[in-house]
Amino acid sequence: LRVAALASGRGSNLAALFAAHLPVEYVLVGSDKAKAGALQVARDAGIPTVAMSPKDFPDRVAFDRALFGTVAAAKPDLLVLAGYMRIIDASVVADWEGRAINIHPSLLPKYQGLHTHRRCLEACDSEHGASVHFVTAELDGGPVVAQARIAVGPSDTEATLAERLLVEEHKLLPAVVRAIADGRLTWRGEPLFQGAPLS
Ligand code: GRF
Repeated sequence: LRVAALASGRGSNLAALFAAHLPVEYVLVGSDKAKAGALQVARDAGIPTVAMSPKDFPDRVAFDRALFGTVAAAKPDLLVLAGYMRIIDASVVADWEGRAINIHPSLLPKYQGLHTHRRCLEACDSEHGASVHFVTAELDGGPVVAQARIAVGPSDTEATLAERLLVEEHKLLPAVVRAIADGRLTWRGEPLFQGAPLS
């Protein structure tokens, strides 16, 4: 399985993917931040990288078309958003329907968008978690593939929740990519990702 990834930050989820030694070939790691730690993680793993700055483009869709066009050129079977912090133009997302997954630090459909740990604490939830879902035009709104749960304690803060949840994320994302690589991920009864690479 040919896998590409996009990340905007330190890349701990990307590093967890690499550390899982999955039966996949990483073909490209891209970022909207030239200094993203995730790009160094990819370089250290000998994986080609690309960074593009939204400032160099007239508008969102131009940037998205450039970056996702470069990703498509690497002919991945699967695109993983591993901490990619931009909302993607709907016309661009449409090309990746069923071929892109995202990891989000909440028990979707709860807390789509940002500040999920804070919102979980404010709601006094007894549970928190992370979700891997298919990317669709609705932000953090696509079909959920798998979730990991943690208990929320009375002394938890945003920082302690984020830290404990990240440990679970680092297990959840590789488990989903492994299921896809093994052909165990089906959608409406059909095995996914058995088709030809993206055009
Ligand atoms: C993770 O919490 C992920 O759920 C969210 O952003 C964070 C990415 O962290 N999308 P990292 O860059 O993978 O360390």
